[in-house]
Parts: sequence; C-alpha cells; structure tokens
Amino acid sequence: MSERKMITAALPYANGPVHIGHLAGVYVPSDVYARFQRRLGRDVAFICGSDEHGIPITIRAKKEGVTPQDIVDKYHEIIKKSFSDLGISFDEYSRTTSKKHYENSQDFFTTLYHKGKFTEELSDQYFDEQAGEFLADRYIVGTCPNCGNENAYGDQCEKCGSTLSPSELINPKSMLSGNVPVLKETKNWYLPLNDYENFLNEWIIDGHKDDWKPNVYGQVKSWLNDGLKPRAMTRDLNWGVPVPLPEADGKVLYVWFDAPIGYISFTQEWAEKNGKDWKDYWQNENSDLIHFIGKDNIVFHCIIFPAMMKAHGNYVMPKNVPAFEFLNLENDKISTSRNWAVWAHEYVEEFPGQQDVLRYALLSSAPETKDNNFTWKDFQTKNNSELVGIFGNFINRVAVLIHKYYNGVVPEGDANAAELQEIENSAKVIETFLENFEFRNALSALMNLARFGNQYLQTEEPWKTIKEHPEKTAQSLFVSAQIAVALGQLCEPFMPFTSEKLLKMFNVEKKNWNDISGVVIESGHQIDEATLLFSKIEDDVIEAQIQKLENTKQSNKKTNPNANPMKEEITYDDFSKMDLRTATILEAEKVEKADKLLKFKVDTGIDVRTVVSGIAESFTPEECVGKQVMILANLAPRKIRGIESQGMLLLTTKPDGKLTFMTPEVKVENGIEVN
Ligand code: MF3
Ligand code: ZN
Repeated sequence: MSERKMITAALPYANGPVHIGHLAGVYVPSDVYARFQRRLGRDVAFICGSDEHGIPITIRAKKEGVTPQDIVDKYHEIIKKSFSDLGISFDEYSRTTSKKHYENSQDFFTTLYHKGKFTEELSDQYFDEQAGEFLADRYIVGTCPNCGNENAYGDQCEKCGSTLSPSELINPKSMLSGNVPVLKETKNWYLPLNDYENFLNEWIIDGHKDDWKPNVYGQVKSWLNDGLKPRAMTRDLNWGVPVPLPEADGKVLYVWFDAPIGYISFTQEWAEKNGKDWKDYWQNENSDLIHFIGKDNIVFHCIIFPAMMKAHGNYVMPKNVPAFEFLNLENDKISTSRNWAVWAHEYVEEFPGQQDVLRYALLSSAPETKDNNFTWKDFQTKNNSELVGIFGNFINRVAVLIHKYYNGVVPEGDANAAELQEIENSAKVIETFLENFEFRNALSALMNLARFGNQYLQTEEPWKTIKEHPEKTAQSLFVSAQIAVALGQLCEPFMPFTSEKLLKMFNVEKKNWNDISGVVIESGHQIDEATLLFSKIEDDVIEAQIQKLENTKQSNKKTNPNANPMKEEITYDDFSKMDLRTATILEAEKVEKADKLLKFKVDTGIDVRTVVSGIAESFTPEECVGKQVMILANLAPRKIRGIESQGMLLLTTKPDGKLTFMTPEVKVENGIEVN
C-alpha cells in the first residue's frame, strides 16, 4: 500500500448544478476516502474541477440563448460553492478553461503527435450548411439503427443504450437548424485504441480481476472482447481547446481527451501553489492513482485515458477505478431536463447546518453495487432514528451526565476496561471497509459503535449507581467518554461538521487514525457545554419536499401524451408578421389527377384569390362552399400542380383523423384580422 494517494473525482460538466445523484455516486464517497487517507497521515492530493468543454455545454448555451462562456462561468461558481458548502474537501477545484489546462492539454497532444501516436484520417462528417458547422456527436439526431428510436444522438441511443456514430443514424437531422445535413470531408487525429489491447488486457484483465469492482472489471472485459477501434481525439467544433497544429484551424481537442488531462493540469496548479512536485503524484510508482466516477464514465477512465497516458509514457496507471451505479429519486430516474432531482445548492439553502444529514443519508444508500433509491421519508427516518436517536442521543447523554456529576471533568476510570477494545476494533473495521471502497459497510460500523455506547449506558445505568456505587458511575462515564470521543474522531471522514462540533464539545484535537484506540480522552480533562449535534426533522418539512417533487411531476405531465413538444420560441414580432384573416370560400373544385387537392376561390375582404389545399380526403367540394374560414394571406405564393396557390387555409385534425376548418365562432365580415 502506497503512502501517496492521487485521488480524482469525475469533473462535473458545468452545464447545470450538481444533484444528489452526483453527490452519492462520486463526490461524497471520494471525499470520505480522501479525508480518511489524510487521517492515516498519507500524502493526499484530492483533485477536481469543472468540465467546461463539450457539447453538453454548447447545447445548454444555445437553449438559454447565451454564449458557452456565460454558461460555464455561471455553473462553475454554483457547483464550486455547493461542494464547499457540503464539506467536499478538494485540495484543488479548478476548471478546464484555465490557462494552465489549455497549455497542458495542448502539450499532451503535441507529445503524442511528435511520438507518432496518432493516425490522421480523412472522413466524411455531417455538416450543417446553414449553420456552417460540422455536426459532432449530440449535434445530430436520427433514427437508431438498432431499436428504431427516432431521437437517437450521433454518439449514443439513450433508448437501447447502444454506442453510435453519426453515419449510422437513419434520417439524420441537424440539432442546430433541423435541416438534413450534407457530408463533407474533414481531417481528424485518431488514437488507435486497438494498439493498446494487449496492454489493457494484461494490466486490467490479468492484473485486477480480484481488486477491482465486478461492475468495472466486467465492463472493461466486454469492451476488450468486442475489440477496440481507433477513436478521433479531435473534433470540428468551435468550443474547446484548439488543436495545436497549424493545419487544424477550427478544430478542438475531443472533450474526453482534454477533460481527464484536467486532473493533471489541476494537480499542477495545486502543486505550484503549495510547493509540491506534481510528478510525485502522477509519474511515480509510489503513488496510487484512484479515479472516483459514475458508471457511465468507465470506458473513458479504464480504456481511453490509460491508453493516452501509456502513449505519452511516464504516467502511472490507475490503481483502482471505483465506479458507482446510479441513484434514483423517489423510484424515478434522476433527470436534469425533467428537473427530477434534489439540487445540492437548494438543499444547502433549505436545510442550513444539516449538511452531514445529507452526507449520511447519501452514504448509507450509496449505489455501490447496484442502482439505489433516495426517498425523503427514508432521509427523515435516517435523521430521526439514527442520527438523532442513536448517535446524537448517546453523545448528548454522556456530555450531560459528566457535567451533572463531575462538573464537566472526565472522571477516573480503568484504562484497561474491556469495552475500550471496541474503539480499536471499530477503527480497524472501518479502515478495512474504506480501503476496499465499501462505504456503506464502513458507515454501519461507525453506527455500530454508537449503538454499542447506547447499550452500554443502558446496562450500566450510571444515573442509578451514583448513590450507592459512585465508583461504578465514574467507571461507566469514563468509558462512555472514550466512546464518545472515538466517535468524534471516527466520524470525521463521513460527517466532518459533526466531528468538529463533537470534538470541540469534548475539547480534544483531531488525531491520526492509528491513534484512535484505548484512552482517547484522559481523566481530569475538562469538557465544554453539551450541545445538540442533530435535531429532529418534522413531518411538515418532509411533506414540503415531497410536494415540491409532486409539483415538478405535475408540470412535467402532458395532458395529451401524443401532443408534439412545443416548437422553438418566437417573438411577438415574428407572430405579427403573419397576416391571418377571415375569408369565405366562394367556389371549390377537385384538381385533375390529384386525389388529395382541392382548388378554392376565396374572398379575403381585400381580394378574391385562388388557394390550393391538400384536403380532398376530408371534404367534398360542395361541403366547402359558403364556409367562413381563416387564411394565412401573406404566405409566399406557391405553384401546386401548375396552379398558383395564394395563401393557406387553416385546419386542424379531428379525432377520426379527418380535417376540419378553423372557423370563427360567429359569422364576421371577411378580412377581419386575427390578433
Ligand atoms: N464531465 C463528465 C461527466 O459528467 C466527466 C468527466 S471526467 C474526466 O460525465 F475525466 F473527463 F474529467
Ligand atoms: Zn436504439
């Protein structure tokens, strides 16, 4: 086991705030691990930052009608603050738009380039002629060739989960304009991942069968079984780190090339500020590199980034990649677009001073081996029965009793009491679990010590022995004080705010993990006033949160599940450009050799004109004559079957699929405008 830990947490995209899914699956566990390693006295660098490139950012910017820079500036601050509010103890939280990162990721690319590690390939990529842009990954939608989902993206079908490339989509459409894109030739630089298959097989498949989590190992194995292909490390996009080659104007590094290099860039930033050498953490066999990620990131951290580091040379390979499954919320998939989430920044506002309750609740249902579920009722129970009822209750009783009988001075007691063994045992058990990334088990072991303390008090009943056997009371409160302080020490990785309060209450300093055994607070030690560590969360508070989600559900619900989503927003000016007015059909007849078409003469109040309309399957000509209708009068004339149509009649569809005219409720003059 190495004494140096290079711990990374997946860089969150700065396209929205973080929610409990992110926290439970990456940031809280990684923080527990980092804090724990620091307590063991190890040399820790815990590094993260915002992932500010990539299509999630540019799409969000388009949606909000602002620039990508505006988006990342806004969300970087929100995310950074949430992490710090929740006690996530990053040594560095930077961003991939930092100057250092631009230089470092470009250097990395240049090194691979000069070493001949890339292949250059010309390929036909979809191009949106109207927008003048190439359409990578999520900028293109179409029908999935595997399952027929009509809204599959250029890189992935979210319905069947298959990985796609834009050329595989049937009926591709540009997300920028909705137009059908054209193919245009472009050059990109590829990393031939297939060249790294042997290396990856040896390193992971042979080397980490037993110490990596089965979900991670299994995914890597299946990727390798399927065989790897060269993957483009550059993109034709205008948001990202520019490719540092003169011939690559208008191209940027693939976001999954630049983002993981961010871990290195941010370590460099941290090292410079703190008089450290970043190479000790990334290029030294004595450093354990550990990536905390969600399961959707496995391929990038176990295959692509390691291949990049291998190609570069010098870098250590990750020692472990603890990937978490997903957390659901109230039995439904967490979704940013549906606003189905508990947002970190909102929690912090709505539950001031209760950060540890969230940390505790998320850790105890951390999706370690399978997807898990967060419910507000559960959250309440965990707080009220476990944190208030067991942990807080024990600590409070101990502090109150020591004040009551001994004026706050820890009484004399037997330092060899058998019960004290529990402290060392707990420290060891928690240590084993944490070294193994078993956070839920580690947390239960912590709670078991609190349970043990409660039972001990219950059996010893110091409030009864005080009259006849005061020495017994002294002994049991001496032991209880040890357990209370041990809890304060041991809970720090999980609940840092509580630990601080508790240790302050007992007037002791944080200790090295290995020193948490036996006597952890001496007889004669003066403790501070007893304060409450946790408080009960009432039903109305929980109800309010459930109601909030219920409101989200309601506003997400369509009254008509078949209704198409709303079209892109327009301005009032756009609307007022349309000349919509009342008109009356004077004549109607079928168009020769066109089953669907009817030709009308209509009186628009300003003229009598010809309109051709594809509605013959819904009406006979006779039915139409004399009807008052609505017409879009200033639509540019179009020739239909050789007849010039001067406007468009407005219709809608009836339940039987036939059309019906949009007609004013009462008869009005012709030429009256709609407004
Ligand atoms: N932003 C990515 C995501 O949210 C994670 C990037 S991790 C890094 O899925 F390694 F690329 F940095
Ligand atoms: Zn599909």
